[in-house]
Amino acid sequence: MVNIRRETLADYPAIAEVNRLAFGQENEANLIDKIRHSDRYIPELSLVAEIDNLIVGQILFSYIDLVNTETLQVIGLAPLAVHPQFQRQGIGSALVKAGLKIADVRGQILVIVLGHPHFYNRFGFQPSVIYQIESPFPVPDDVFMVKPLQNYQQKYTGKVVYPPAFNEV
Ligand SMILES: CC(C)(COP(=O)(O)OP(=O)(O)OC[C@H]1O[C@@H](n2cnc3c(N)ncnc32)[C@H](O)[C@@H]1OP(=O)(O)O)[C@@H](O)C(=O)NCCC(=O)NCCS
Repeated sequence: MVNIRRETLADYPAIAEVNRLAFGQENEANLIDKIRHSDRYIPELSLVAEIDNLIVGQILFSYIDLVNTETLQVIGLAPLAVHPQFQRQGIGSALVKAGLKIADVRGQILVIVLGHPHFYNRFGFQPSVIYQIESPFPVPDDVFMVKPLQNYQQKYTGKVVYPPAFNEV
């Protein structure tokens, strides 16, 4: 059975390893480290999936900015990684759902993700352009997605700005 819980200090090496294996590079593990050491880190939204005490997946949600005449703090989903030997067993989906629920309960307004539409559409993510929310990167509309939570209001539009931790990803 898969157990989803908050990360602890003792999980850090295993989380880095799952990210290295899932992405085949160091960038995401480094990103997680930088976010943890920044004011954008949200401990309640840094989750791991474990099976028999083995970390098989990880998801991180952290604060990013939605900039218009005012700057709003919204939530960015990145990274999400499942150990290659445990992919396509529902673990990634379970991590996304658990995180979205916590973000909603915490009164967050919006979650943003850059990723595969085929995967994220099922959780209610839609192209950000539908909500007049602009990506900071020149990417196809369908891969830059948002999921409004219960506290979302239509007036929340603008351009997304990622903190410096994301510069090297
Ligand atoms: C993407 C990822 C997190 C999904 O986790 P998972 O536990 O394998 O996903 P689930 O079992 O919950 O869901 C499987 C679904 O995701 C889809 N999926 C998995 N990887 C995908 C990919 N690279 N591109 C598109 N869809 C993908 C599968 O097709 C499957 O869809 P289906 O239900 O229609 O068959 C995992 O495959 C992974 O870690 N990939 C490498 C790292 C990565 O690309 N992360 C990107 C996050 S934006």
